[in-house]
Amino acid sequence: MEISENVSKIKYAIRDILISAREVEKKGKKLYFFNIGDPNKYDFDTPQFLKDALVEAISVDKANYYSESIGDIELRTEIVRRQKRLWGTDLDLDKILVTAGVSEAISMISGSMAPGTEVLVPSPVYPSYLSYFTFHDIKGIEYKTQETLDWQPDVEDIRKKISPKTRAILIINPNNPTGAVYSPKKVKEITDVAGEHNLLVISDEIYDLLTYGGSYKSTASLTDVPVLELNGISKTLLSPGWRLGWANLRDEEDKYAQLWDAMSKQSRIRLCANSPIQKAVAKIINNNMDFLIGVNKKLKERATYFAKRINEMEGLSAQIPQGAFYSFPRIDLPIDDTDFILRVLKETGVVFVFGSGFGTLGKQHFRSVVLPEIRMMEEALNHVESFVRKLS
Ligand SMILES: Cc1ncc(COP(=O)(O)O)c(C=O)c1O
Repeated sequence: MEISENVSKIKYAIRDILISAREVEKKGKKLYFFNIGDPNKYDFDTPQFLKDALVEAISVDKANYYSESIGDIELRTEIVRRQKRLWGTDLDLDKILVTAGVSEAISMISGSMAPGTEVLVPSPVYPSYLSYFTFHDIKGIEYKTQETLDWQPDVEDIRKKISPKTRAILIINPNNPTGAVYSPKKVKEITDVAGEHNLLVISDEIYDLLTYGGSYKSTASLTDVPVLELNGISKTLLSPGWRLGWANLRDEEDKYAQLWDAMSKQSRIRLCANSPIQKAVAKIINNNMDFLIGVNKKLKERATYFAKRINEMEGLSAQIPQGAFYSFPRIDLPIDDTDFILRVLKETGVVFVFGSGFGTLGKQHFRSVVLPEIRMMEEALNHVESFVRKLS
């Protein structure tokens, strides 16, 4: 069988690095994982009230059926409530599409746009976007985010990159891979540019409740231009393995009805998102979320510690993350980022991800999660420090 050429273009550095890591592990080296944004692999756990709601959904509510393709109405109603309660935005119940994680929503958006369409994406960028786009012959055109300004987006660069083929601007806020929280002023400036040029704003807000610096606001609360929002439970409800997310379109003039139809069609061919999980999430998504105070406190401590240690190393530097759970340090050493990460892996067992896997501006950087306990970070970063000392 001939294989689609587009498949050969798929890359996902965050998991691809694991292949090399397993080789190193086979040789008996202890590994320290700093590569995957999964809090549940560290000392974070899904809240008990969500676990209980799932047991009830399966056994008492018997939600073991196929649900509507667009998503269970109960969950969509609760998502409308959530967004109103948290960010004051008004969503349309029929413009919420429940998916198997934000990843499936990214796949559906990419599968809906005509080949050759250009979408402006922040650089560095969460790599799924570039891979899904390439897979569907969509062009992800990277716009700069400014490292020395806490990785805030460069709005002038967005303007410069707009072409007759541009149809959308992607915002990822709080940001993966940089840990930035975009200022409401910057977000508003981006949405104004989108308004001037008749572009859709795609706003990935999967980390919306994980902030410990900056002042986060949901994009749709800052503008009237059409916004396709992406969100889910993987990160803020500490349940990445449950695979539940959603897309919602806030589009008062119905400019993007065709895009919505195209996404809805794709939702029908995969039948539905996981029904018991939808039922469970509907029950709790508007609960008190005070457990996140503790989560954000831990993240802040760990993010600050990580950046401090990196900044003490000759040839490395890092901004202090303000949200999500990533840091994106810069490498000013005579070695490229891929070699650096592979050598760190082989010599110290620490698994980071090379920055060039996150787009052009990712070069000479690497991405690390700031999820591990300080004790483990200390041990791993001591090894990295000794390694870097030999290099510089
Ligand atoms: C910015 C961003 N969007 C989307 C995703 C995928 O999320 P999900 O687990 O909902 O598919 C991730 C996961 O790391 C992410 O960082």
